[in-house]
Amino acid sequence: MQTFEQLSSQFSSFFNQAHFPAQPDTLYRPAEYFLSLGGKRVRPVCCLMGNELFDEILPDTWQVATAIELFHNFTLIHDDIMDKAPLRRGMETVHTKYGEPTALLAGDVMLVVAYDYLNKVKSPHFHRLVSLFNTTAKEVCEGQQLDMDFEKQETVSLNAYLHMIELKTSVLLAASLKLGAILGGAGEGNLHHIYEFGKNLGIAFQVQDDYLDCFGDPAKFGKQPGGDIRSNKKTFLLIRALETAVGADREKLLHLLAANPADKVEKVLAIYQKAGVDQWAMELKNQFLEKALQHLEDIAVLSKRKQPLRQLADFLVQRDY
Ligand code: IPE
Ligand code: IPE
Ligand code: MG
Ligand code: MG
Ligand code: MG
Repeated sequence: MQTFEQLSSQFSSFFNQAHFPAQPDTLYRPAEYFLSLGGKRVRPVCCLMGNELFDEILPDTWQVATAIELFHNFTLIHDDIMDKAPLRRGMETVHTKYGEPTALLAGDVMLVVAYDYLNKVKSPHFHRLVSLFNTTAKEVCEGQQLDMDFEKQETVSLNAYLHMIELKTSVLLAASLKLGAILGGAGEGNLHHIYEFGKNLGIAFQVQDDYLDCFGDPAKFGKQPGGDIRSNKKTFLLIRALETAVGADREKLLHLLAANPADKVEKVLAIYQKAGVDQWAMELKNQFLEKALQHLEDIAVLSKRKQPLRQLADFLVQRDY
């Protein structure tokens, strides 16, 4: 069984090659630029671990892991347009550097190339893999639309937020694990549990992402701090702050959301801080981490084979980048 570090370094050797032709370089250079910025490669590693939990890693799994990472990078290029984000992975976003029309196309072509990799799969499970990949891709679109719809709503319930982040983020982690497990020959019960492990872990992962967007160290996190506050994202931080802030703070928060002053980010952060956000983030992450770990325990393989997935879970909810 291999660790996250071992698998991510092996995946990087496989993945760090040209995925696009040379011309027109006005399209393909921006696409390669974005891939060259790296990233944690969490989803392809999930796919590899999902396979290795049940069997030796198959050649097909590298192709599927590559398709997943390309799909993920496509969603990020488009996400940064939607979120008007200037920075990612410590560098300029594609639309900032090359303009929105090119960023749209670079994302589109990356999605198509993801399918080229998927199409290399020789497994008898091919149709099942494509079907899961497509269901997941549609769910990510649904989640992304809800995320934008919520920007325009004054309030959103915690359950609506959890549903939205399940769609935009956690189903891809869950599917990555399950795709690997299908390739590894897992049975239906185990497939169910590995998917639920990924789904609950993915929710904790997005909770941490939302926390870091407010309180991460920008040098490590690599994104513009306070982006979610600027875009009026309905994160658990805002939802809980509106629930718990009382009197003057609640009025101030509602006013800041409506008025959009230049110092909005600092002021909202101060209210979050005072209301005890660290505690909420911890509680919410632990709630979903525990559920995830229960499903991991329920997978019918030797406990010691699950060690890399336990480590992965800890890393994802405690990460600072
Ligand atoms: C960013 O995902 C998008 C979210 C779902 C939060 P990652 O944090 O995995 O991004 P990279 O690939 O490591 O940059
Ligand atoms: C992104 O959520 C989810 C997808 C890209 C599908 P965020 O908008 O929070 O991700 P970051 O913070 O920009 O990476
Ligand atoms: Mg974003
Ligand atoms: Mg977004
Ligand atoms: Mg975010």
